[in-house]
Amino acid sequence: MKSRRRRNPMRFISKVFLRSPRRQRPYWSLSSLAVLLLSPVLLRASDPPDMEKIIGPEGCGECHQEEFKVWTNSAHQTGFKKMHRLPEAKSIAKKLGLKRIKSSQSCISCHYTPEVHKGKIRARQGVSCESCHGEGKDWLDIHQDFGGSSTQESETSEHRSERLQKSHDSGMRSPSSLYDLASSCYPCHSIANEELVDQGGHPPGVGFELLSWSQGGMLHNFKKSGERLENRPATRTRKRTLFILGKLLDLEHDLRAIARATQDGESFQARKKHLSETCSLLESLNTALGSDSILEPTLALTRPIINEEIRPGQMEKLKKLADKISSLARDFVQSRPKNSLEKIDSFLPPSSSYKGQPIAPKAR
Ligand code: HEC
Ligand code: HEC
Ligand code: HEC
Ligand code: HEC
Repeated sequence: MKSRRRRNPMRFISKVFLRSPRRQRPYWSLSSLAVLLLSPVLLRASDPPDMEKIIGPEGCGECHQEEFKVWTNSAHQTGFKKMHRLPEAKSIAKKLGLKRIKSSQSCISCHYTPEVHKGKIRARQGVSCESCHGEGKDWLDIHQDFGGSSTQESETSEHRSERLQKSHDSGMRSPSSLYDLASSCYPCHSIANEELVDQGGHPPGVGFELLSWSQGGMLHNFKKSGERLENRPATRTRKRTLFILGKLLDLEHDLRAIARATQDGESFQARKKHLSETCSLLESLNTALGSDSILEPTLALTRPIINEEIRPGQMEKLKKLADKISSLARDFVQSRPKNSLEKIDSFLPPSSSYKGQPIAPKAR
């Protein structure tokens, strides 16, 4: 499979945002003086890019044609041609003193898949496969090895589960590790960047909702039904899981953002309000679930903090709390059975509120 890589002349770089959460360092760490000098304020939010590990969406699309088509039509890729031309984009860039959006590290980290061109970082594509599934270099060979000379159809089930485990261990985020996969949305969608929001006037990213944002235009879940290929919505059970997981991740990432806050600006106020709304919703879900609620341990941790006045500069305390919420969220996804969860059905966002329309597979 090395030939695939040789055919591909581009070398890609990755960002902390594209990394597996397991290896993710705090994204405010100051670890590269060189990068820092390029943009002293905004770059505090990111690690230096990893130049080596991105295969690029075409590499995945060779086998995953339907997923590739969905991605091409999703906001993650259509923004590549459009975003920098919007008056709002130009206004943000101007306020931050940035000349070119597509080569500004401060925009690339969330809006694009980066590449190196003549020694400089620039946008190559929009947000793409590996932004969510993890950079492919360490796992692609494992992922596409179905055992000896066998194809996917003739792969043994032992080989398959070993392959999935090994890919996961090498940094792949797949639907079977849902906490990791869903976590990848949040460093981009829960915008924890005071300069960007307070100075640049960028939206604070408080509208994100995991279930309704993953089941619309970006839905890719291709399954065979007889001879026909379907792009299947999540099952009822999966929807409940995505909904609750989304709330726990909202909580985790609001706390992380607030932990980083240094000033009482728009960014801080928006996150604080979002945090309080998330907590009220979790309380309602907790009540609906009744005595066997899986949310009680989480709320027992957050209640004392939320009732206190939340203010900037509580880094350590809130970060520790976010870490605990993170492991409770992971436990929630892994726990089985989730029998009582149908009690929250009336809280699930209706399909009319999904972001965009799912795309049907190509007619063959
Ligand atoms: C050589 C063909 C091939 C390439 C290249 C490929 N895949 Fe796959 N992928 C497959 C097959 C086949 C399956 C189904 C495997 C199964 O269900 O056992 C799959 C399954 C998946 C899954 C579902 C869960 C899993 O772990 O099996 C994800 C997610 C995925 N691929 C992502 C990617 C991404 C991202 C890339 C590019 C970095 C990529 N794939 C490149 C063949 C490929
Ligand atoms: C690398 C950063 C990044 C990651 C990871 C990411 N997104 Fe996004 N997403 C964006 C950006 C940036 C936009 C806005 C694109 C534009 O309009 O130009 C966006 C837009 C969207 C939209 C369209 C919103 C609209 O108003 O129509 C949806 C839906 C979405 N993302 C869902 C998700 C989900 C679900 C995940 C996780 C599974 C995710 N995103 C992961 C950066 C990211
Ligand atoms: C921390 C991640 C992050 C960074 C950094 C970031 N953005 Fe965004 N941006 C987003 C997300 C996520 C959205 C989609 C928000 C939504 O729909 O709620 C978005 C939306 C936008 C929009 C509205 C897009 C549309 O299609 O309506 C513009 C304009 C924009 N960003 C410009 C910029 C510019 C310019 C920069 C660089 C200075 C930048 N962004 C940096 C995450 C980010
Ligand atoms: C914005 C984040 C995001 C992007 C970009 C993205 N995926 Fe996914 N992918 C997901 C999520 C979330 C799921 C489903 C989670 C679940 O099971 O509920 C998924 C599921 C999958 C699956 C399993 C379902 C299926 O269709 O067989 C495959 C394979 C896959 N993705 C491949 C890709 C490929 C290839 C690309 C790029 C062309 C891509 N993904 C781009 C987030 C993303």
